[in-house]
Amino acid sequence: SDPSSSRRGAFIVFEGLDRCGKSTQVARLVDRLERESQKARLQKFPDRTTAIGKMIDAYLQSKAEMDDHAIHLLFSANRWECAAAIKRDLDRGITVIADRYAFSGIAFSAAKGLPFDFCLQPDRALPLPDLTLYMSLPQEEATQRSQFGEERYETVTMQQATRKQFRLVAEEVKKIHGGKKWMEVDARGTIEEVEERLKGLIGDLTDGVNGRVGELWV
Ligand code: TMP
Ligand code: MG
Repeated sequence: SDPSSSRRGAFIVFEGLDRCGKSTQVARLVDRLERESQKARLQKFPDRTTAIGKMIDAYLQSKAEMDDHAIHLLFSANRWECAAAIKRDLDRGITVIADRYAFSGIAFSAAKGLPFDFCLQPDRALPLPDLTLYMSLPQEEATQRSQFGEERYETVTMQQATRKQFRLVAEEVKKIHGGKKWMEVDARGTIEEVEERLKGLIGDLTDGVNGRVGELWV
């Protein structure tokens, strides 16, 4: 029998601060996989298309105010409403590539002063990414990029505080899930250079993985 037939799709997450080039790289990866006739799907978080996502969108555009805890829980709820579809697609052998995930949820809310433990809990048992690629860019370079400052969290103070929290998130992932699940990538340089770095780290993950999808923080 063909052992590859029992493989599921890989769940790959891209993380980083605002304007680090995540969305560009995620789009290029999905394009490349499609050209190579591999099955892949992009999942953006927040997913602003759902009812919850529309509330999040209004908050980020400062068209609505919300308690910090409440918006934190909405970001998490937005992931939970997508969790079953992610699992289903992974089981069908589709590579799911997420542009942000629970790690942004923790880092941004903790940067506002919410307790780290509170931030972590609502996402507990969500599908566990097989690999999270954290794209790291000096703040000066992110600030210079076009459209920086458009949305609520895009201030230098907030980004610097979130950068510190992302370091704690990385430690937590490594402690609970092991060192291979989180990799930091230098996001400086041309789009092509960064793409090559990412490609090297992703390796043959997009050919599928063995074993069941894990649970986050479990
Ligand atoms: P986006 O620019 O990738 O659409 O993300 C919008 C903002 O929301 C960004 O500043 C990061 C932030 N965010 C959270 O605060 N919590 C979350 O759970 C997620 C997914 C994003
Ligand atoms: Mg943004």
